[in-house]
Order: sequence, then structure tokens, then C-alpha cells
Amino acid sequence: MSTLAIQGCQWGDEGKGKITDYCASKADVVVRSQGGNNAGHSIVHQGQRYALRLLPSGIFNPRVVNVLSDGVVINPWGLLEEIDGVKKAGVTSFQLLISNRAQIVMPYDVDLDHARELALGNAKIGTTGRGIGPTYEDMASRTGIRMGDLLEPHYLKERLHEVLFIKNKELEAFGAKTYEEDELYAKLLALVPLLGDYIQDTSSFLSKCLGEKKKILFEGAQGAMLDIIHGTYPYVTSSSPLSNAIPFYCGIPVNSVENTLGIVKAYTTRVGAGPFPSEILDVDKAHIIREKGHEYGTVTKRPRRIGWIDCAELRYVKSLTGVHDVALMLLDVLGDLDEIKICNGYVLDGVSIDTMPSTVEAVGRLEAKYLSLPSWKGDISSVKRYEDLPPEAKNYIATIENLTGFHIVMVSVGPDKEETIIRKEVF
Ligand code: IMP
Repeated sequence: MSTLAIQGCQWGDEGKGKITDYCASKADVVVRSQGGNNAGHSIVHQGQRYALRLLPSGIFNPRVVNVLSDGVVINPWGLLEEIDGVKKAGVTSFQLLISNRAQIVMPYDVDLDHARELALGNAKIGTTGRGIGPTYEDMASRTGIRMGDLLEPHYLKERLHEVLFIKNKELEAFGAKTYEEDELYAKLLALVPLLGDYIQDTSSFLSKCLGEKKKILFEGAQGAMLDIIHGTYPYVTSSSPLSNAIPFYCGIPVNSVENTLGIVKAYTTRVGAGPFPSEILDVDKAHIIREKGHEYGTVTKRPRRIGWIDCAELRYVKSLTGVHDVALMLLDVLGDLDEIKICNGYVLDGVSIDTMPSTVEAVGRLEAKYLSLPSWKGDISSVKRYEDLPPEAKNYIATIENLTGFHIVMVSVGPDKEETIIRKEVF
């Protein structure tokens, strides 16, 4: 396969970073297609762990071209900090391209994110506070500033004048501080010597790479259930993390993604508010999994909510994306439990259903139907071959495959690269 997309199949934080890191070592080009610095994953480089939010996973490999494509929303000041971190790690010859069509997360977008959450009170989304929603709103309401605008100072000035008039009105409505045009313009212009050389037409760059059969990895951010349309709306992010959306966000043909690797955690987690049908409400049991799995947000450090794997949710994601090959992550975490549950359907108002209701009110009323399997009660982190897993672990994997139609091609049994069982290479 010369192109592969990584697809988070739950509510994000499925462990995409580890698999992305593994695949990125084989890629010529690594692409982020959506989201912004609300995402976060860590990359191990020369034995040290680095937290990346925006920079693609190939950044430590000088051979790889890293692309922030048209659909990404970029906080340029955050990006500069990340670039600084990479340089401090001794990597000076990285290759980075930033789309001239990518939206800039403006300082007022971050303020508006906070102001909206505050105004929503108990109904708040629990965003990462990175200004992601307001920036995608700017895109849709045609009041955004894009990376390419930085390269045309006269146009940038006009544009800022037009949009700041509207943005300041919105900020005033929330009682938030407003922005002074000249100051903000100077702040933007100061980015040009620092980022200007990276900015270009990434859509035509990617088309050229596709024509040359370069190996392209589309790394995922967030998860399918946070999709702006098909997720648990409105408790979602403001873009589409579905692999279906990659061609749109990157400006390439619809058939450019040859294969998708779904990433599924052996249990489910969610950060932020919103319904979660298979959530484990037993605080002590959830605590065991949270601590063993280090389930705290990479960006916000918030404790993640914990639930059982939900095969009804996964079937929904399969129907949305067509994903077939899957990496099952963090399986080792379940080894300390006596019993493992699998959600395999829902009851809504006394009636069994197997579809995802469109309102969060209804999703919140779903009662999960469970099967129960025994755990393997032991440490599996040193297992290298699928055949050598304990029978209970193989049974757990086979049951998920049967209930979802997925083929589990990789099983992660520990955080290190070596702690991965590979049943089939997909890239
Ligand atoms: P936003 O993307 O910051 O607007 O946040 C909207 C929702 O998406 C919140 O529930 C966040 O916790 C969630 N979210 C955004 N990015 C991630 C991620 O990378 N992992 C998990 N959840 C995320």
C-alpha cells in the first residue's frame, strides 16, 4: 500500500500515536489533515519522549516531508514552540510544509472558546480550550485568516480590518477583551520570517506525491465519535476526524486513501462532557483501568472517563468509514481485572436498537447490553506472537472481531514499540 490513513474509532485517545510513530518510519510523507493543537501524541526519539500537538509524526526523521494540510487549523505561536522543542532535541534538518489555505487560530478564537464554554455553564462541551471551534466557525462564516494571507501583507491588512470589526463585536458581547488592529497586524507580520518559508500549496504537493507513488501516511487526530456531523453532537470537535474526509481536507482525489487502519482501544475512554453508553460507573473499577492505562489527557491533563469496549459503537464507525483492519491498543491494561465486559447493543426505552440515535438526549438514555468474559489475569507485555497470548486474551480478540467484522491486525500489549504483536503489515 502506498497510502494509509490512521482512523481513531472511539472518542479519541485510542493510542494512535504509537501506531502512527511505527508507520511514520516507513513513510515518505506524513500528513495531518484536520484539527489543531487540541490533539496530542508523544513520539519517542532517541530514547526520549516528545509531546507533539500539531507537528506530524515524521518530524524527527529528516527524510520525511511533514505536511499540515488545508483542513488543519494552526495556532502559529503554538507551532513555533513545538518547532523550538524539535530544534532543541537537536533536529535541525526537518522538512515541514504548511498549507497556504490552512486557517490560523487567532488569539481571539482562543478567547471566544473560553467565553463560550463559560456562557454554556453546565451545558459546556468541555473543549480543550485551544480555540478550535471558533476557528472552524471563522472558516465557515468566511471570517477566517489563512496562513497564505501572511505572505501578502496588503491583503492581510485589509482582511484583518474586515474581520476584526466582526470579531471585536462578538468579544464585546461576551464581555471579553477586544483586539487592537495595528497590534494584531504586527504580531501576524512577525510570523513571516519565522514560518513564511514553510507555507505553500500543499494540495498540489500531495497530488504530485500521489502521482510519484510516494508512501503517504495520513495520521489521524481525535476519533470518529467526535466527528462534527456523525459524532455525539454537540459534544464533538469542530471538524471531521473520519478518514472519509481526508481527501476533502487535503485537496486530493477521493480515491487517494488506499487503506485505513482503525485504532481501537481494548476499552473506551472519553474526555470532556457528553453521553457515553458503556461508561463504567463503578468508581473503583474505573480507577484501576485509568491508573494502569495512564488515562489522563495529553493536552489538558484531565482524567479520562473510562468505559468498556462498545461493539455497537464500533459497528457504527465501521458503517461510516468502511474500516476493516484494526490495531487493538492497551490490551495489557485489562489483565488485572477478574471480568471484562463487552457492550454489544443498546436498549432505548425498553426496545433493543443497534443504531446510534442522532440526539445526545437519546444516546444518554441508552442502556448498554453486555457480554462478560473472563480475564487472563496476568502480564502479557512480553508476548511477541499472537499464538502465545493466553487463551482468554485470544478469546477477547476473536469476540471483538466476530461482533464488529473488524480484522485485528495489530495488538498493542505495552507502551513501547517492541510491545506490539503484528499479525499483518498494512503499510
Ligand atoms: P475541541 O476540539 O477543543 O473543540 O473540544 C471538543 C471536544 O473534543 C471535547 O470533548 C474535547 O475533549 C474533545 N477532543 C478534542 N480533541 C481531542 C483529542 O485529541 N482527544 C480526545 N478528545 C478530544
